[in-house]
Amino acid sequence: MRVFLAGATGVIGTPLVPQLLAAGHHVTALTRSVLRAAQLEAVGADPVVCDVFDADRVRAAMTHASPEAVLHQLTALPARLDWADPGMFDPNNRVRTEGTRILLDAAVASGARRIVAQSIAFVYAPTGDRVKDESAALFTDAPPPLGGLVAAVVEHEQRVTATAGIEGLVLRYGMLYGPGTYHDRRGSTADDIIAGRMPLVDGATGVYSWLHVEDAASAAVAALEHGAPGTYNIVDDEPATQPQWLPVLARALGADPPAAAATPPPPESPEMSLRGASNAKAKRELGWRPRYASWREASSPASRERSAPPIRLHCRSEASCSSKWASALRYSSVAQLTRATPSAASSPSDGACGRRMMFTGPRISDMKRRNASASHSAMGYTQSTPASR
Ligand SMILES: NC(=O)c1ccc[n+]([C@@H]2O[C@H](COP(=O)([O-])OP(=O)(O)OC[C@H]3O[C@@H](n4cnc5c(N)ncnc54)[C@H](OP(=O)(O)O)[C@@H]3O)[C@@H](O)[C@H]2O)c1
Repeated sequence: MRVFLAGATGVIGTPLVPQLLAAGHHVTALTRSVLRAAQLEAVGADPVVCDVFDADRVRAAMTHASPEAVLHQLTALPARLDWADPGMFDPNNRVRTEGTRILLDAAVASGARRIVAQSIAFVYAPTGDRVKDESAALFTDAPPPLGGLVAAVVEHEQRVTATAGIEGLVLRYGMLYGPGTYHDRRGSTADDIIAGRMPLVDGATGVYSWLHVEDAASAAVAALEHGAPGTYNIVDDEPATQPQWLPVLARALGADPPAAAATPPPPESPEMSLRGASNAKAKRELGWRPRYASWREASSPASRERSAPPIRLHCRSEASCSSKWASALRYSSVAQLTRATPSAASSPSDGACGRRMMFTGPRISDMKRRNASASHSAMGYTQSTPASR
């Protein structure tokens, strides 16, 4: 299938590109960066350098690509969440409102049949059941900055699912973990845990639903061909309270066990009020299963042995192969490419040289924050050398 991917270089887009290629799709990939465009090309995608707010260019690029499906994985979130800043989510809200409208207009104009868009599964109203299905009300009367975020989510989801002439599926992702996320070794939340700034709230009742970035990507691949238009919670199988997941995450990060909170947080805090999500509909209708069924499993050593499917570099000649190979090596960390195996072409007739790359965890976004002395685990938590701490 011809797929147009907006957000090809973010925490989800990075594992999504190789998954799409491995499934045999042709990928046109949007980025604002010329450098990242070269990296995308090196792994076999067709890059387009364009800002999503440049509506004319987006439309022209989409028309040229003529995709059967559009994947919307754009976000614009800060490196650190600062809940005291009422405008914290403004850039992301713009992407989810104006950006979504521009993408949808272009998708319909180009004749695309389907759009699959990212959303979130942790803004259900903090009342009633602790684990929600997709029919539950969203937290539309939340205070700022969360209230603005929820309003943008509502507009985004309605536009995706109700635009005439295109099938729209919304994937409500759980709290992401894995390479490049806030919970990665170099992410801001991990930073807080390691520094002892996140106390354990004994008896906390809020429920968190988690999701590994690779599973976020695999759900998008599944939604290209399965499922009726509508919303789907994409979360793992084990909703958990803060006292359940925090000690496990702290241990995986190599941090000291979190100290108990001196005073309980207010009832409206996420630790006390958050609602989790059920993935029953996604399993039933998309045929999707999380590879990491639990955040516990993802931190186990066994899971680190698993690897994503191989993808092939697409090169027209030996000379271009060498430069693409070098570029791909540059954008992937050494740890990711421990299984990289240049080999002879299996079917050179298509002009591809046939060198194969085995990605153990592709992560273009992670490159932005890469620390050369760190090595990666499957969960994205890293065992860094003493010098890098
Ligand atoms: N459900 C969740 O929990 C959830 C979901 C998403 C993100 N997050 C968190 O948010 C943080 C940042 O995520 P991230 O690394 O994915 O974000 P990011 O790298 O800042 O951006 C995500 C993608 O959106 C693209 N993009 C953003 N604005 C664009 C624009 N105006 N035009 C075209 N493309 C645009 C970026 O492309 P270029 O920069 O290449 O142009 C990139 O591919 C992470 O900590 C992550 O865990 C959490």
